[in-house]
Amino acid sequence: MKSKILSIFNNYMRKIEKNTGSVYFGNDSWKTLQQTIDKQGASSVAILVDNNTKTHCLPLFEANITFKKKPYIIEMQAGETHKNIHSCLSIWEKLSQKGFDRSALLINLGGGVVTDLGGFIASTYMRGITCINIPTSLLAMVDAAVGGKNGIDLGALKNQIGIIRDPLAVVVDTMFLQTMPEKQITSGLAEMLKHGLIYSNKYWEQLENFDVTNISETESLVWESIVIKNEVVTEDQQETGRRKTLNFGHTLGHAIESYCLENSDMPTLLHGEAIAIGMILALHISVKQEGFSKETFNIATQRLLEVCGKVSFSKEAISEIIKLLKHDKKNVSGKVLFVLLSDIGKPLINKTVDEKLILKSFEVINAL
Ligand SMILES: NC(=O)c1ccc[n+]([C@@H]2O[C@H](COP(=O)([O-])OP(=O)(O)OC[C@H]3O[C@@H](n4cnc5c(N)ncnc54)[C@H](O)[C@@H]3O)[C@@H](O)[C@H]2O)c1
Repeated sequence: MKSKILSIFNNYMRKIEKNTGSVYFGNDSWKTLQQTIDKQGASSVAILVDNNTKTHCLPLFEANITFKKKPYIIEMQAGETHKNIHSCLSIWEKLSQKGFDRSALLINLGGGVVTDLGGFIASTYMRGITCINIPTSLLAMVDAAVGGKNGIDLGALKNQIGIIRDPLAVVVDTMFLQTMPEKQITSGLAEMLKHGLIYSNKYWEQLENFDVTNISETESLVWESIVIKNEVVTEDQQETGRRKTLNFGHTLGHAIESYCLENSDMPTLLHGEAIAIGMILALHISVKQEGFSKETFNIATQRLLEVCGKVSFSKEAISEIIKLLKHDKKNVSGKVLFVLLSDIGKPLINKTVDEKLILKSFEVINAL
């Protein structure tokens, strides 16, 4: 399997070049990364990994990139529960103790937790040092590592602290996916499905029938998702308009993820699983409020259920989740604002929704 993938994709690169946040994709992108690092001439380099990416991803990185001075490896604990200020404090202190100055470089090698937290560390340490994202999970490749959003959770509240600041570059090599647990790959699929739903029926149809665990098949679709995300964030980096469409499914999805993080009687949901549930709920609301086709809802829901599995919510859970909506970052003057769809590829932003309809959409999901 490994050698087959190598022979298909050897010496291969696609790229999106910009002043900041350029994306290099394919195993030939390592050469460009080497040139970027050499040209940057950082005073010192740190590589942020978590305990899984240290084992599974650092060797591939080290086989491709060399440094004049040995980089400093910083390891954090894997998982959303560590995307917090305590991890930041420990990393800021390590950088400071090792004498990292403003010309230092931080390389974030990991999934969305590492690229979100590492991007935030780089944005704040000494008022900002350069960072490079090397996403190693599917979700981080197609979404988290691109677009410059970074940050940490505040207690259970998702991504409440953070800023938007591009990394110098993003380097994507799907070889990393070979060690990803299947459940995590499926979680990444949720954000790809989101790109299809908000952007184009053509891409959605391509996603409908493909096997996400077949990495060689996934390659071209990963690139397609990166291109979509890049187009949207380049047009509206500060999220005043079009970028909000990328939050489709996230209003309720984030609240559900936060609720499950805080309640030990609930299953621990991966980010993509929570977003898939959020998208089913938002699609149901779209059917009732925006004329989204019921037939398309049924088809899309079946696909999304393959990501999140069957879930149900008690009355108490639903009421707590609705309370959590007041912390959503898209809210304006206390109003909860949703992204809805009138059709696939036709997103509507800043939509308010009656609470009764939100409750009804949970009834629908409980009955699936
Ligand atoms: N900044 C953004 O625009 C944006 C967009 C979407 C999601 N996010 C954030 O991304 C996070 C979710 O990202 P995620 O799903 O990558 O989570 P994650 O970083 O927790 O990675 C998932 C798991 O896979 C492991 N892993 C990663 N790469 C691996 C590899 N190649 N081999 C083996 N194991 C590997 C990690 O150690 C972790 O245990 C959430 O915090 C979410 O809020 C951010």
